[in-house]
Parts: sequence; C-alpha cells; structure tokens
Amino acid sequence: EPTQLIDRFGRAVTYLRISITDRCDFRCVYCMAEDMTFLPRNQILSLEEIYTLAKAFTELGVTKIRITGGEPLVRKGALELMQQMGSIESLHELVITTNGSQLETMAEPLKKAGIKRINISLDTLDADKFKAITRTGDLHQVLRGITAAKVAGFERIKLNAVILKNRNHAEVTDLVQFAVDQGIDISFIEEMPLGIVEQHNRSESYYSSDLIKADLAEKFSLLASTEKTGGPSDYFKVADTQTRVGFISPHSANFCSTCNRVRLTVEGRLLLCLGNEHSVDLKHVMRTHPNDMMALKQAIIDAMRIKPEKHEFNIHEQPVILRHMNMTGG
Ligand code: GTP
Ligand code: 5AD
Ligand code: SF4
Repeated sequence: EPTQLIDRFGRAVTYLRISITDRCDFRCVYCMAEDMTFLPRNQILSLEEIYTLAKAFTELGVTKIRITGGEPLVRKGALELMQQMGSIESLHELVITTNGSQLETMAEPLKKAGIKRINISLDTLDADKFKAITRTGDLHQVLRGITAAKVAGFERIKLNAVILKNRNHAEVTDLVQFAVDQGIDISFIEEMPLGIVEQHNRSESYYSSDLIKADLAEKFSLLASTEKTGGPSDYFKVADTQTRVGFISPHSANFCSTCNRVRLTVEGRLLLCLGNEHSVDLKHVMRTHPNDMMALKQAIIDAMRIKPEKHEFNIHEQPVILRHMNMTGG
C-alpha cells in the first residue's frame, strides 16, 4: 500500500526514526555537553505511547523504523518495546542504532526480538582516544559488544564513525581494515552542528568525506555502488572483500532532495528535519485525544506540509539548532 505521507516537494516518507530516551551512558564530545540535564519522566513518551505512534505511522505507510536515543538500550523496557514493534506486520524493517555498550548481553535478545540490522557507533580503535571522545565510554566493552552482535547473527552490522580532524582522522584506514577483518560495514559521518558543546570547535574539527576517500585510496580500492539502504549513506564496496564503506556527507554532498524520513523525539515532538526546528507536538495530540487514532493520524498527515526542503547546517557558525543530538539520535 502506498504511503499517505507525502510532503510539498513530492517526497514520500516511509522511514521513521524514534529516539526512545535522551539518556546515554556516554558523553561524546560532538553530541552532548559534559553536564547534561535529562528530561523528567512525565515529559517523555511512555512505552505504550511510543508503540501507539509506531502503529499509527505504519498504518500510514511507514515501512522502516529505526530505534535511537540517546542510547536506546539504557531505557528500561526497550527490549519488550522492540518485541512488540517487531510484530507489526507492515513494518518491513525494524533497526537500531546503538553505542554498543550494552550489546554484550543485549545482542542476542535483540536478534530474537526481530531486529535484523544493527548500527554501532565506533569512532576509534585506540582506548585512550575512545575515552577522550566518549568521555565515559570503554572501548573494550564496545568491542565485546560488536563480537556479541556478530555471534547473534544479524543480517547486517554497520559501524558509524564520526571523523574529527586531529582526533581520529588518522585512523580511517585502520577503521576500514577493522571492518574488513570483522566482515562488517562502516559509514563515515561528517559532524553536524547540533547544540552547543564546550571544549570542541566544530569548524576546526571538520574533516570532509573527500579527504577521507583520499586517505582510504592509499590502501583500499573503493568501487562505486548503487546500493541504498534507505538512509543518507553513499556506499562503496571495498574491492575483494564483503565490506561496504558509506559516506554520510551533510556538508559536502547534500542528500536532502531524496529525504524519506522524519523523527520522533522522546518528548513526542515530530521533527520534520534533523537540521531545522519545524515540528508538531504529537504527545499533546495523544494526551488531549486519548485513544483517538484518527486524530493522531490526521495530525501526522498534516505535519507533512511543514517538512522543510533541506537542513540549514553551517559548520563554521555557532549552531542555530540548540537541541543536542541525543534528542533525535541523528
Ligand atoms: P541505514 O542507512 O538504515 O543503515 O541508517 P543510517 O546510516 O541512516 O542511520 P544511522 O542511525 O546509523 O545514522 C548514521 C548517521 O546518519 C547519523 O549521524 C545521522 O545523524 C545521520 N543521518 C541519518 N539521517 C539523516 C538525515 O536525514 N539528515 C542528516 N543530516 N543526517 C542524517
Ligand atoms: N554530528 C554527526 N553525527 C553525530 N552523532 C552524534 N552526534 C553527532 C553530530 N553532532 C552520531 C553518533 C552515532 C550516530 C547515530 O550519530 O556518533 O554514530
Ligand atoms: Fe551517547 Fe550516541 Fe550521543 Fe555518544 S553520540 S553521547 S553514544 S547518544
């Protein structure tokens, strides 16, 4: 059935990203301030409300849902929520993006809940740099998580690496080699200016996808690929391996014209674009019209009219978007 969610630019929305918590056990320098205040319970969606929203979106034509955070696996009941969502028939893809810290114990149950693909953030293979970037994370715990994910047998595991000049840019070939050795995929991400973060200057740390490609060319042969996963990554195949390398380049190669996605914040705000503030308060709709699926669906359909044409990121200026990344999970 075709989606009922079409915006003013003719783009069909079939992909919903849901941040199920703003909390995280890491404090990545590009994502969060060191001292974060998280939302009180009554302001965030309950698991039942998240499920109802997922149901409404799938009935309107969404076929792919990605669970994000914060760190989604730190929310109590996350697994049960995913089991429940996994049984929505018209949902072809239920996927998750995680920092990997809980995977040692959660990988297997996630696979059983019906999650087919998993994206794990990994910016460096150096334990000290890992600590410097995540502030509270432990590299070896995440590496054990990646192993557990492989053992659990997901259809596809992808690493996400945000590349920052002078922090981890010299490691791009090592990261690809690691992905090749593990038989998994990797995407490189250009940092986006969301929220004010101290002690980290985004303009100075900008490292473009073209620079990464040039670095990789010294060791690997990357073959252009037409493959798409429904996300913004541009994929290449590493010659003679199983590994795909993706580039998510919001600054150097804008992908907004093919945008197929919207985001739900943990406060129940439907964000029509990551790089804008256009939003509709679906929590308000649900709490003022309890059990009224029609009203909820109509609010979602109407929201498509305010989906902006593109993001307004400018890495060289103070961020205009004050919301931190953990509200939307990227
Ligand atoms: P798949 O293609 O399904 O594997 O997912 P993905 O790569 O889109 O998702 P993931 O959660 O792994 O996100 C990787 C990065 O892509 C994150 O840093 C996101 O912020 C970024 N990203 C995803 N969608 C968008 C988008 O619409 N706009 C921008 N600017 N960035 C996005
Ligand atoms: N810019 C780009 N990517 C970011 N992420 C978190 N904050 C930012 C940012 N400001 C990444 C995480 C994770 C993915 C979901 O988003 O590292 O891999
Ligand atoms: Fe946590 Fe992910 Fe943000 Fe890092 S980028 S602080 S792991 S939510």
